[in-house]
Amino acid sequence: MKAADIKKICALGGGGVIGSSWCTNFLWKGYAVTVYDVNDEALALAKKRITANLEYLAEKKIITQEASRQALAQASYTTDQRKALQDVQYVQESGPENYDVKKAVLAILDKYGSPETIFASSTSGLLITEIAKGSQHPERCIGAHPYNPPHLIPLVEITKGEQTSDAVVKVANDFYRLLGKEPIVLQKEALGFISNRLQIALYREAVNLVLTGVCSVEDVDKAVCYGPGLRYALLGPNLIFHLGGGQVGLKGVLEHIGPSMELWLKDMAVWKEFPAGSKDILQKGVLQEMQGRKQEEGKTTEEISRWRDEKLLNLLKLLNRI
Ligand SMILES: NC(=O)c1ccc[n+]([C@@H]2O[C@H](COP(=O)([O-])OP(=O)(O)OC[C@H]3O[C@@H](n4cnc5c(N)ncnc54)[C@H](O)[C@@H]3O)[C@@H](O)[C@H]2O)c1
Repeated sequence: MKAADIKKICALGGGGVIGSSWCTNFLWKGYAVTVYDVNDEALALAKKRITANLEYLAEKKIITQEASRQALAQASYTTDQRKALQDVQYVQESGPENYDVKKAVLAILDKYGSPETIFASSTSGLLITEIAKGSQHPERCIGAHPYNPPHLIPLVEITKGEQTSDAVVKVANDFYRLLGKEPIVLQKEALGFISNRLQIALYREAVNLVLTGVCSVEDVDKAVCYGPGLRYALLGPNLIFHLGGGQVGLKGVLEHIGPSMELWLKDMAVWKEFPAGSKDILQKGVLQEMQGRKQEEGKTTEEISRWRDEKLLNLLKLLNRI
């Protein structure tokens, strides 16, 4: 199979945050999509989210109203596993982050789907080798980790399990490119992939700064988004440090500021589990932060998500990614 042979996709767990956003992306780019979820409430939520996303893209003139209507007409919704997997060439699984569920979902594909159908998991960082144990066809399983919201953020991290075929990796890589994404294929399997390992390294220290009383949840967020976050949308951490070194470049910076950095490193958190009580402290802090936001930047989860999407669209236009 080639990427161009993919015409119809099944979105397993299509009612969720990630599943509904993937559906938006597939429909927007002209694919037929079967949205599968476990009950009618989840399907109703899927339809609501996908409709709102596509209408929003039309409102922002990324697509026409007619294209938005046509895209919506290409979606079908079902709680019937057999129907969901009929005649699909590609499955994007976005169910709960749990090996047992993902293996069980994969086994359904063995039962009702074609052996040629590719199974791509949106897992945030579980091992594909382990998930693939749920199938008689481990060669068709890959990880395809998006960033929220997948219909706007270009990155997709593709991971192979021990038995994933290279041909499947190639088709998936080509397919996400056709979708307008920026896929990266990991050279070897790693829990959390690339971006979530980086994200959680930053987040551990963000939590540590709050728990040790250095700053509030709101100020950690400000320190990221008004500082390094602005540059991270343009350049990665290596190039950023390289520019910081001027003529001496990355190596020069690491030689000049490196000894100071090593003092910070020795002072930073190294815990491997979230400290007791931290989740409540963080939740309280983030709710306070939301209350303090300007109304035009949104105060509720839904309002802030819309505000984020609008700014993301502007950023993507600026970077010629949309
Ligand atoms: N939320 C994020 O920021 C994010 C980002 C990237 C990847 N992911 C990954 O995407 C996946 C989904 O995460 P989410 O945040 O969208 O979760 P979610 O809870 O919003 O959605 C999960 C969906 O799966 C459905 N579901 C439950 N059991 C199922 C089953 N047996 N078969 C099929 N569907 C089932 C639920 O009804 C729900 O609609 C996870 O693997 C997660 O790690 C999440």
